[in-house]
Amino acid sequence: MLTEIENGARANDSLASFLASSGPGLSRRDRGFVTELVQGTTRMRRAIDHVLQPFLRRKLDPDVRAALRMGAHQLLHLGTPPHAAVNDTVAVTPRRASGLVNAVLRKVSNADPQWPTGAIRYSYPDWIWDLFIDTWGQDGRASLIAMNSPERPSPRPDGYIQGQASRWVSDEVDDASPDGGSMLDLCAAPGGKTTALGSQWSPLYANDIDAVRAKNLQETVGRFRPGTAVVISDGTSAAFGDSSVDAVLVDAPCTGLGALGRRSDARWQISESAISRLVLIQTALLDEAFRLLRPGGVLSYSVCTVTNEETIKVPEDFQASHRELTSIALGGSHWRPHRQGGIVLPHDQGTDGMAMFQWKRQS
Ligand SMILES: C[S@@+](CC[C@H](N)C(=O)[O-])C[C@H]1O[C@@H](n2cnc3c(N)ncnc32)[C@H](O)[C@@H]1O
Repeated sequence: MLTEIENGARANDSLASFLASSGPGLSRRDRGFVTELVQGTTRMRRAIDHVLQPFLRRKLDPDVRAALRMGAHQLLHLGTPPHAAVNDTVAVTPRRASGLVNAVLRKVSNADPQWPTGAIRYSYPDWIWDLFIDTWGQDGRASLIAMNSPERPSPRPDGYIQGQASRWVSDEVDDASPDGGSMLDLCAAPGGKTTALGSQWSPLYANDIDAVRAKNLQETVGRFRPGTAVVISDGTSAAFGDSSVDAVLVDAPCTGLGALGRRSDARWQISESAISRLVLIQTALLDEAFRLLRPGGVLSYSVCTVTNEETIKVPEDFQASHRELTSIALGGSHWRPHRQGGIVLPHDQGTDGMAMFQWKRQS
């Protein structure tokens, strides 16, 4: 799995298919351990490589490097006793490299790592580290550290497993429109926020651009919110008429920098240039949501990220270009005030980071 992930596979997908095929033969504890080895080794790759590097003279084959990283992760971050971490790793190392892995891991177990930068120590690309520190200072540092021990979401009362910050978004959507009415969730897949909405919404439309993700969405709403209409359309030119719905939620595609704990490989895959690309999509989705919203209706915008571009510039520029919108203050005490909206940073309450804004369209 580790080599697959390094080649671009998603860690959550690799794990899910491995556990589905080998899961029944594994105890609950072993499933948890496999998950930690894969997620933790992927997440901490940069820190681990920094510690391994002085003990390596040549470039390693990917499978050998994966074994070494996995052993080093246990030694450096999991507190596994050295004999267990070394012996168990050697046992699963290709035989041609077992001597090397044994020798290097023994050295790692006695090493006293020096960390030239926080980005290396906490295993983030430099640009992500710098962005959090420049934007949020000490809070940024604390957020990054928190995302290395991510939330383990517990099931909702209906059994759906969802992070708390996403539930807070749906709560605000409900609270801003106690009378309910028709609701369009414009970027709905896989359906977490749609299915967390209250029962006052009818009809409830769950839209997404991606047909594959929409299949997943269809299954989720079928199970947790029957009666929801799934629509596949580009939310920047959505298949709905002008002023046709009472409320719209734009849970927009974003850089996901507040949710790096949830996807261990995401920090290695996202690039800084994605910010400006996503800002354009977020703006286009909000503009379209405004077209669909009836006068008097409520528009909600949320993103699981913490960049100023996506959490300040996009909503403020949008409001500035639509004078008929007035901001609605968020009710939940978990939100930090963030201009006219709110934000939760990952270390505030051990959830994903999330930003949210709401507006009412004047009648
Ligand atoms: C943050 S995710 C939504 C998560 C979902 N609301 C939930 O809580 O489960 C963003 C979604 O936006 C969708 N998306 C991206 N571009 C879109 C567009 N132009 N129109 C509609 N959906 C889009 C993606 O396919 C993705 O499913």
